Amino acid sequence: MIKQKMEIPNHVAIILDGNGRWAEERGLTRSEGHFHGFNNLEKLSDYIFKKGVKILSVYAFSTENFKRSKTEVSYLMSLFSEGFKRYSKRLSKQNIKIIFSGRREPLPKKVLKIIDQVTEETKKNHGSIFNICVNYGGQYEIVDAVQKIIKDVKAGILDEKNIDCHTMNHYMYQDLAPVDLMIRTSGEHRLSNFLLWQNAYAEFYFPKTYFPAFDEKEFDQAIIEYNKRNRRFGGINYENENS
Ligand code: FPP
Repeated sequence: MIKQKMEIPNHVAIILDGNGRWAEERGLTRSEGHFHGFNNLEKLSDYIFKKGVKILSVYAFSTENFKRSKTEVSYLMSLFSEGFKRYSKRLSKQNIKIIFSGRREPLPKKVLKIIDQVTEETKKNHGSIFNICVNYGGQYEIVDAVQKIIKDVKAGILDEKNIDCHTMNHYMYQDLAPVDLMIRTSGEHRLSNFLLWQNAYAEFYFPKTYFPAFDEKEFDQAIIEYNKRNRRFGGINYENENS
């Protein structure tokens, strides 16, 4: 039997879920769960980029996450502002371009500062792309795109007759290729407002593992599962139908 080469998805998106439950099961605080999730992401993202993934999007903080306790929100904010400094420098050395998706308001100044700094420092990198979704909501992203489109139409920059899917994509927070594989850890089967536009034809994978324990082996399993899927994009893949 000929062993076929595994296809590596171009754009992988991950909902980093289960940090809290992982911590609770070990008698730790929720913040400690996020700390372990953050450390895991640092190791895992290296592996994912080495595998050849060109775009990695992660759901680091949703617009709704501000409703969590003050302690948890402020711990997560310090992970973005302090914890991310060393991590981003290491990624930049690997030629990774780091970009952010989400609304700026009401992120604290120290987080906005690091977002702007890292964006600037890595903007010329041309390796893979790390898209970090912070204070992100998929419905807000579409609303914000429509607002920008209306503004540009009014200013005469954009002709309304030319608005199509390509234009919409361009007006999203980032003009990225569509997601190929969307992973949500922890066994939840929901999209929770994550990359609604970009996930239109993504393959979904829902492992039971909590994010802090989602390691390289688990990612390989996701790739194996992805390779079993028959992607048709609404059409019919006759080649696979007859095989
Ligand atoms: C969801 O688990 C996780 C989050 C809300 C935060 C995830 C963020 C990180 C791991 C840090 C990423 C940082 C950077 C800079 C990329 P949960 O708390 O909802 O888990 P639960 O459902 O078990 O309670």
